[in-house]
Amino acid sequence: MSENDEIRAASTEPAGERPPPGIDVNVPSVARIYDYLIGGKDNYAADREVARKLIAVAPDLEHDAGSHRAILHRGVRFLVEQGIRQFVDIGSGLPTAQNTHQVAQALAPETHVVYVDNDPIVLAHGRALLAENDRTTVITADLREPASILKNPDVLRLIDFDRPVALMLLGVIHHINDDEDPGGLLRTYLEALPSGSWLFLTHFLHIGPESEQLERVMQGSHKSGRFRERAEIAAYLDGLETVEPGLVYLDLWRPEQPIDEATLSVSQRLVLGAIARKP
Ligand SMILES: C[S@@+](CC[C@H](N)C(=O)[O-])C[C@H]1O[C@@H](n2cnc3c(N)ncnc32)[C@H](O)[C@@H]1O
Repeated sequence: MSENDEIRAASTEPAGERPPPGIDVNVPSVARIYDYLIGGKDNYAADREVARKLIAVAPDLEHDAGSHRAILHRGVRFLVEQGIRQFVDIGSGLPTAQNTHQVAQALAPETHVVYVDNDPIVLAHGRALLAENDRTTVITADLREPASILKNPDVLRLIDFDRPVALMLLGVIHHINDDEDPGGLLRTYLEALPSGSWLFLTHFLHIGPESEQLERVMQGSHKSGRFRERAEIAAYLDGLETVEPGLVYLDLWRPEQPIDEATLSVSQRLVLGAIARKP
């Protein structure tokens, strides 16, 4: 039994029993597939079927999802240490233990955090969790419609766009297809942020047949999921000051223990991450 299977087995409330209103459990959702991969219980048969197809291509994909959560923790701590007290986490996913607000507010309780996701299940599950404090909120909005986020009254209540902000786009820009202009969207968000703001980005990397096969499964199931070339991902950071170690595999971004790149598995090479400052 894998570590994630044990977490799922220990869940008191198996998914599939009572989906929140308005959620179609028969259509696989990125948020719920990812939830399954990180050991969550807020997923349904259609999501698990896609997750298993992905795992069949990249057997240690669950490890990669874990790397994603781990870089989120290291990156948020880094940003708080840089003095950031406002986070906008777009494509935040279903709430899990140690989310952005818990990590940031453990270090600086006054930090404001807004979670944004276009899947209504995130709000359905996030509400109860976030009721715990008034410095954090979650909204349902689509990254492809910047005004729906930048002008959202709930966002403006917590985020002062005249002061530096950390814009977190973890595992979400690769769900914007090429014809939806991911680079242009990113620029729109960055233009709305003052100097001294930060971009925290992670993105699927094209590495050959494995990533091509994963892309086919994802596009077939939910019509998004692009594994882009390193140069394309690097271009998203143009005009920003990327901090050391640059744009790297997630596990190599300021790891707590030294890691030998040669030991990284295929799944650990499927995503790049970086943190960069707007000058
Ligand atoms: C792979 S999960 C990443 C979760 C989290 N950021 C992390 O790194 O652990 C991607 C999330 O992005 C959301 N998403 C996909 N397309 C989106 C869009 N156009 N606007 C907002 N959220 C989106 C999905 O619903 C999903 O919850």
